[in-house]
Amino acid sequence: MSVISIKNLNKTYKERDIFKKLKGQKFKIGVEDVNFNIEEGEIFSIIGLNGAGKTTIMKCLLGLLDYDSGDINILGEKKLTEKIKTQIGYLPEISYYPKSIILEVLMEYYAELYGIKNKEEKIVNALEKVGLISRRKSKLEDFSKGMLQKVGIAQAILNSPKLLFLDEPMSGLDPLARFEVIKLIKELKEKGTTIILNTHILNDIETIGNRGIVVNKGKVVDSFDLNFLRKEATYTVYYKNGIEKNISKSALDSKLKELEEISDIVKEKFSLEEYFKNIVLGGEK
Ligand SMILES: Nc1ncnc2c1ncn2[C@@H]1O[C@H](COP(=O)(O)OP(=O)(O)OP(=O)(O)O)[C@@H](O)[C@H]1O
Ligand SMILES: [Mg+2]
Repeated sequence: MSVISIKNLNKTYKERDIFKKLKGQKFKIGVEDVNFNIEEGEIFSIIGLNGAGKTTIMKCLLGLLDYDSGDINILGEKKLTEKIKTQIGYLPEISYYPKSIILEVLMEYYAELYGIKNKEEKIVNALEKVGLISRRKSKLEDFSKGMLQKVGIAQAILNSPKLLFLDEPMSGLDPLARFEVIKLIKELKEKGTTIILNTHILNDIETIGNRGIVVNKGKVVDSFDLNFLRKEATYTVYYKNGIEKNISKSALDSKLKELEEISDIVKEKFSLEEYFKNIVLGGEK
């Protein structure tokens, strides 16, 4: 069952231009004609360069941005009803918390917002999951960047959401914390949570992801299924003039005519990073 479907989503931003009165209002494309479905229980990744449109898509889905046109269906509804909102968790790209607030007070505030009944249990559970339980009485001003990121993750999972949006969850995390977050995402998936993940750390997607899309300059330029890609080998072609190209199995045949110029062809393990470079930076697929 699709828990999210987006059809022909278009979003433009008004250009912030101090001379707009002189030049007229300008518009900048956020995303253009975006289509995809997310199935229940999968980890769906949106990957793309800075400014590609990943956060814009998430915010449109979450009702945090008005969009120009398109149809969004989320958990079977066209509108984000209050009931649906309680089933969603969201880690924003950048979180803003009052510095002087005590961690458990912040968590209580969110628990209240989500209408959580067994508050204490949920708060303890979320803080334990991100390794911050011993800091529950601390003020956020004493927290490091990575710790604040963990606060954001605790906030996002507090209501045991059915649908979890994570916008750059690994940002600022040390390698151990990153590993813990990967473990947490896997656990949530095993419990049936659907996860939408924006991240630049393609290795992590390779480890835990199921399907996803590549966004470039506001458009979906490819969609991928990791189960399929993992099976698909790629090849590095070494040319006598020193050039190297990474190509897919299907492109291998076309290299036969260049055989004279090739010094070696090596079969490589699948890498999402190579796939991504090929799609976005125009390598050969
Ligand atoms: N509030 C805004 N006002 C104007 N333009 C915006 C605004 N937010 C985003 N944009 C523009 O929309 C496009 C998509 O931005 P978005 O934040 O969705 O990218 P992203 O893929 O999340 O990038 P990053 O990897 O840096 O987080 C960019 O061209 C950006 O400049
Ligand atoms: Mg972003």
